Amino acid sequence: MQTIIKYFWKLLWFAKNRIYQKILWLFYKASQGGFFKKVGAGVIFFGNPTFGSVEGNISVGDKSLIGRKIFLSCSKDGEITIGDHCSINTGCHLVAIKGIRIDRGTLIGEYVSIRDQNHGFEDPNMLVLEQGFSANPIVIEEDCWIGRSVFIRAGVTLGKGCVVGANSVVTKSFEPYSVIAGIPAHLIRHRGDKLEH
Ligand SMILES: CC(C)(COP(=O)(O)OP(=O)(O)OC[C@H]1O[C@@H](n2cnc3c(N)ncnc32)[C@H](O)[C@@H]1OP(=O)(O)O)[C@@H](O)C(=O)NCCC(=O)NCCS
Repeated sequence: MQTIIKYFWKLLWFAKNRIYQKILWLFYKASQGGFFKKVGAGVIFFGNPTFGSVEGNISVGDKSLIGRKIFLSCSKDGEITIGDHCSINTGCHLVAIKGIRIDRGTLIGEYVSIRDQNHGFEDPNMLVLEQGFSANPIVIEEDCWIGRSVFIRAGVTLGKGCVVGANSVVTKSFEPYSVIAGIPAHLIRHRGDKLEH
């Protein structure tokens, strides 16, 4: 009997998440004309994301977790791809004119800002807001862990398995398994260095 009750609660919990997902999905579709290109199976939204531009393609892979107060913006030619088993924590901003790719199993701490564009500002006689944007895609390969409040600049690629310390500003690309931190982020060591052999 206890086993049946246990499985009943598990089923209810699973159904709750599925129903919640579907309601969110329908709400977004109805109100904004379909924000996501794809939401994978078992994705959990902890709150309703806020959307900026939603003309591009935004997709979320299977079993990813999308935290509270997430801001997503994807322009017409842009693409935001969040892979399977990713976790995007509270308050993150993902803004793409060209592309942001976050691969499988990557964990992103709270209040991380990932933007693939910069305002043009070279002409001092013109308002910055009139100078358009330049954009360069960002790639975060699988199994990375990004600490809280990190900023990742346009054009950066973080190789597989990178770790980024809290509050870092990532201005350039790093090879796989780099552990980086600071402003600007620099290499501290590689993952595995502290393992005893
Ligand atoms: C980077 C991190 C993973 C630690 O890595 P580590 O290899 O164990 O680092 P260590 O403690 O050995 O420190 C190595 C050096 O990096 C520096 N460092 C570590 N974290 C740093 C950070 N966030 N910013 C700047 N420097 C940092 C240390 O001061 C030390 O410098 P030193 O050699 O000059 O003394 C950890 O400090 C961190 O920032 N974790 C993120 C936690 C987080 O944001 N959690 C919430 C999201 S899930």
